[in-house]
Amino acid sequence: MALHYAKEGALLSLCGRNGPNLGKCADACAAVGQRPRTALFDVRDESALKGWIEAEDAHAPLDLVFANAGICRGLGPDGLEDPKDSSETFKVNTIASTLTAVFAAEAMLRRGSGQIAIISSQASRIPLLNTPSYSASKAGSRFYGLSMRDSLANSGVRLSVVCPGYIKSPMTDSFKGPMPFIWTAEKAASHISKKLKKNPAIIRFPWQLNFMLGLYGVIPGFLCRWLGRRFSFKVIHGG
Ligand SMILES: NC(=O)c1ccc[n+]([C@@H]2O[C@H](COP(=O)([O-])OP(=O)(O)OC[C@H]3O[C@@H](n4cnc5c(N)ncnc54)[C@H](OP(=O)(O)O)[C@@H]3O)[C@@H](O)[C@H]2O)c1
Repeated sequence: MALHYAKEGALLSLCGRNGPNLGKCADACAAVGQRPRTALFDVRDESALKGWIEAEDAHAPLDLVFANAGICRGLGPDGLEDPKDSSETFKVNTIASTLTAVFAAEAMLRRGSGQIAIISSQASRIPLLNTPSYSASKAGSRFYGLSMRDSLANSGVRLSVVCPGYIKSPMTDSFKGPMPFIWTAEKAASHISKKLKKNPAIIRFPWQLNFMLGLYGVIPGFLCRWLGRRFSFKVIHGG
C-alpha cells in the first residue's frame, strides 16, 4: 500500500516495530520519489499510537489513514491457542486497529474531512479452523468499523472496512495449506486504492471467495465444516 501511494506522490507516515523492515519499505518508497516519515513503536502502546497520529496530523493534515497492523498466530500441539498469542492478536487486530480509526477520526472531525480504511479480512466472515483469534479479532474490527462509519455519516469523514482474501506477504509466507485465489500485494493495493475512491462500506475481494463465503450462510452446517477442513491452512510461524 505504501509503495502504491508513494508512486502516486502521496506524503506518507509509516509505523512498525521492526526497524530494518520499516527502513526497507521507506527506501522502496524513496526510490519512487517519496521518502516517508517513519516511527518505531508498538501499536498496542495506546499513548504512543495517539501521540504519533496527532503529531503526524499536525505536521500535515491526514487525508487517508490505514489501520493495517495485524498478526496471525496458529495453534499449539494440543490444538489450542497459546493464551498469550490470543491476547496479543486481539490487542493488535481489534483494539489497536479500532483505536487507530478513533484517533484519526478525532483529528479529521476537527476539519470535517478525511478517510479511514480498517484492514479486516475475509477471515472475519467465517470461523477459521486453525486461527480462532485471528477470525474473531478481524470480525471485531469489521463490526466496529461498520458501526463507526454510520456514526460518521454526514461528518465529512469517510470510513471503509477492507476484507482481503489471501495476499502474498510475509504473513501468508507463514501459512501452510491451500490459499485459493491468492493475489499479489501490488494487485491488492491497486484494487483497494481504486475502490476507496468510491467510499464503499466494505471492500472485499477476490470475487471467487466472496461467492464461496456467501454460500456459507446458506448451505448445511456439515458441508460448511467439511469445506472449512478442506480449505484450512496452518500457521507455521506467526508474524
Ligand atoms: N496477507 C493476507 O493474506 C491478508 C489477508 C487479509 C487481511 N490481511 C491483513 O492485512 C494487514 C497486513 O498484513 P500483511 O499480509 O502485510 O502481513 P505482514 O506482512 O505480517 O505485515 C503485518 C504488518 O503489521 C505490523 N504490525 C504487526 N504487529 C504490530 C504491532 N504490535 N505494532 C506495530 N506494527 C505491527 C508489522 O510491522 P512490524 O512487524 O514491523 O511491527 C507489519 O508491517 C494485516 O492486518 C492482516 O491481518 C492480510
